[in-house]
Amino acid sequence: MVNSGKGLENVYIDQSSICYIDGFGGKLYYRGYSIEELAEMSSFEEVTFLLWYGELPTKKELEEFSKELARSRKLPEELLDLLYRIPKTAHPMGALRTAVSFLGNLNGEPSATPEDVFRKGISVTAKIPVIVATLYRIKNGLDPIEPSTKLSHAANFLYMLHGEKPPKEWEKAMDVALILYAEHEINASTLTVMTVGSTLSDYYSAIVAGIGALKGPLHGGAVEGAIRQFMEIGSPEKVEEWFFNALKEKRRIMGAGHRVYKTYDPRAKVFKKYARLLGDKTLYEIAERLERLVLEHLGKKGVSINVDYWSGIVFHAMGIPIELYTTIFAMGRIAGWTAHLAEYISHNRLIRPRLQYVGEIGKKYVPVEMR
Ligand code: ACO
Repeated sequence: MVNSGKGLENVYIDQSSICYIDGFGGKLYYRGYSIEELAEMSSFEEVTFLLWYGELPTKKELEEFSKELARSRKLPEELLDLLYRIPKTAHPMGALRTAVSFLGNLNGEPSATPEDVFRKGISVTAKIPVIVATLYRIKNGLDPIEPSTKLSHAANFLYMLHGEKPPKEWEKAMDVALILYAEHEINASTLTVMTVGSTLSDYYSAIVAGIGALKGPLHGGAVEGAIRQFMEIGSPEKVEEWFFNALKEKRRIMGAGHRVYKTYDPRAKVFKKYARLLGDKTLYEIAERLERLVLEHLGKKGVSINVDYWSGIVFHAMGIPIELYTTIFAMGRIAGWTAHLAEYISHNRLIRPRLQYVGEIGKKYVPVEMR
């Protein structure tokens, strides 16, 4: 194999100053700030500013940025009409992909400068939670709720979903979730966004592709798989039998394993704290027992607990249906996608790796009637 790196493992394709992951130490930094500190002290709005512009905002900058996000929430009427026509059977990530693509047809001129990326980034970041909440209400026969310009990004999503202002502890937990999901270096969806961006295609095309990549169960989709597996297990006494069956059948434990972390994902530690605080006691106990087995039996392979393991228990506690969990991931990750797109196109080079050819060459063409 030429220059091995299947799945691009350990391949560095560029330099970046957005995010640092220490996969063996279990540490994560956004622009130099530790994820634990940001989760405790910051807000999604502030973290988005930090990721995009490289520095924490001043009080005035943060107020203006937050206001701009809140002002950009309202969906165009044409998009609202479209949301009613998306099949009710569609997975919300598929519906979100369609909605963002449609927005691109309203605003999709080429994004050749970071400023243009950020301008569109504000609009799409503001609208993703609004799209998700509106889709949910339409699907469930409820009237969509107008976004509020008074609430935080996290609170507005919960308000639009449930029709009432969320309790403070739900707002905080959702804000923390968005911070934890906001950025993670060059994962599969961010590479996808950068690859599309590197062709100098438009912002929306890049983000639509990123949503498609995030949807997969080996990436963001694992958040739905993880909680479904806890529900499938059903009770703490059944965890052991379920786990060893899964190993025997070579099934993956959802929310476990990571290409870069070979130890406990620091984001999962924060989510675990909120799962313990807010989550269903039985689900929590099932997850904790399963976690112990994962660490004991798969730890030697470097398989530990990842960001998607505990988060579903937190969302479940807030009355959010499971099929929306990956869209919450997208609500956070739009910040990182936008940051990387802007950074990459500022010194753009087309992303075009190679595949080592192992087939035959020089075969003689045989006309169809002679085959
Ligand atoms: N359950 C059981 N075994 C696992 C798991 C798991 N979740 N993850 C990895 N392994 C095992 C593999 O079977 C393999 O064992 P082997 O060497 O005996 O064959 C070994 O660990 C290495 O696995 P790879 O597939 O080579 O690891 P890779 O880095 O390619 O996979 C991935 C990373 C895709 C995330 C994997 O761990 C997985 O499928 N996890 C479950 C899905 C998941 O939680 N995804 C979310 C990841 S975080 C994110 O994207 C936000």
